[in-house]
Amino acid sequence: MLNEKQKLDTLMVLGIELNRIHDLDILLERVLTRARQFVNADAGSIYIRDGDRLKFAYSQNDTLQKRLPAGEKLIYATFSVPIDQESIAGYAAATGKLLNIPDVYKLSSTKRYHFSKKFDAVSGYVTRSLLTIPLLSSKKDVLGILQIINAQDQEKRIRAFSQTDEKVMLHFSGIAAVALERAQMTRAMILRMIRMAEMRDPKETGAHVNRVAGFSLEVYEQWAKRRHISQKEIDKTRDVLHMGAMLHDVGKVGISDLILKKPAQLSFHEYEVMKQHTIHGARLFSDLQSDFDEAAAIIALNHHERWDGSGYPGHVDPLTGKPIPGHESSGEGPLPGKKGEEIPIFGRIVAIADVYDALSSRRSYKEPWEESRSIEIISRGAGTHFDPELVEIFLSQLAFIRAIQDRHAETQVLPGSEDGAAAGR
Ligand code: C2E
Ligand code: SIN
Ligand code: SIN
Ligand code: SIN
Ligand code: FE
Ligand code: FE
Repeated sequence: MLNEKQKLDTLMVLGIELNRIHDLDILLERVLTRARQFVNADAGSIYIRDGDRLKFAYSQNDTLQKRLPAGEKLIYATFSVPIDQESIAGYAAATGKLLNIPDVYKLSSTKRYHFSKKFDAVSGYVTRSLLTIPLLSSKKDVLGILQIINAQDQEKRIRAFSQTDEKVMLHFSGIAAVALERAQMTRAMILRMIRMAEMRDPKETGAHVNRVAGFSLEVYEQWAKRRHISQKEIDKTRDVLHMGAMLHDVGKVGISDLILKKPAQLSFHEYEVMKQHTIHGARLFSDLQSDFDEAAAIIALNHHERWDGSGYPGHVDPLTGKPIPGHESSGEGPLPGKKGEEIPIFGRIVAIADVYDALSSRRSYKEPWEESRSIEIISRGAGTHFDPELVEIFLSQLAFIRAIQDRHAETQVLPGSEDGAAAGR
């Protein structure tokens, strides 16, 4: 539990901390973790406004988390609620007002809004005190809703949120909203880039890149933990890796639809053209303005290299498309690929994530594969296509991989769904 001095110190540097985070998902995670710390709350959720609805975006729940086997993460349903005065989150968004409810099961029936018991029923969790705070943009538009659930006292007994909690959280939400607005702009820009690539149906494209990014983070975290990389460094890297992985194939923008959308096997020549997407992608970020551009360039360039050196494009300078001096091919043959640890770690990670997702998804040229068949390809690729250590990590994280697949399948909208904590598994 934070003491008063720690709270004040944390609040003072919160803006700096949050504004360092560029990726939206990573930001939501940090915002909720910090918000819960301030008021010592057991659980919480964030909803993001999507037109006239609130989309359930992210959730944490310590009690439900503890019931899971070690290492597993909560899986929660994707749903949305209308912005109206019927649900608690909807009411806070519609009115722009904070709601402090001491016990949701004793909510006066004179209130317009109601608490939905559905999620408690599904998860076996008991929501009591609930603080709901709108996240308002600089123009006072509602960006989303922050819900903090079950404040606890020193003895871990559930207590109501105090007036001090309300004040702290109002201040907190102002800082969080600034960071959120900025991360949403970055994300919108990235999604625009992905759509421009018009690889496929824009929807499927969005889900694919989200899954590849999600798988990549999972593998990176385990890899980094084995190396005792500090949590601070891991957090920083997760941020740029997530965005960079989303953009791994953005260089396909430079490939003609005839090749990109061909509903059949590519010819030798077509495949040679297709391989250029790695170089096109790297070139898009060649300014290297920030850590993010650097990560995105590395990933675009290296995600089709293979551990045994048989991948592409090899040691090329993306700006010229020419081999890097000292790495020219001998004779007429193609440029040799990078080998083993010559391939940057982000490239090795995204290679696995990308192939696994390509195998398990529909493509213009293939049907989705059964999980067992996709896993077989990944495990057989250890030491030839893929870094064997990363394959081992990937295969040890299948529960997470499936959770990411569930989360980034088609979005489900349940009309009339209301507030609630995470619906457990
Ligand atoms: P992608 O569809 O995102 O696939 C990424 C990588 O997943 C592929 O890299 C490959 O390593 C693996 N992969 C995808 N489908 C299969 C499969 O059916 N079997 C196996 N064993 N591996 C698979 P690759 O081969 O370098 O291809 C890069 C991109 O080129 C693909 O991205 C896709 O956009 C395009 N492409 C590759 N082959 C074909 C094809 O036969 N037809 C068409 N239309 N496009 C293709
Ligand atoms: C971002 O959030 O800044 C873009 C990457 C993403 O959508 O996660
Ligand atoms: C997510 O589920 O990561 C959010 C995807 C989105 O930007 O809508
Ligand atoms: C192709 O040659 O059509 C691409 C398939 C592959 O070699 O992975
Ligand atoms: Fe690719
Ligand atoms: Fe891909």
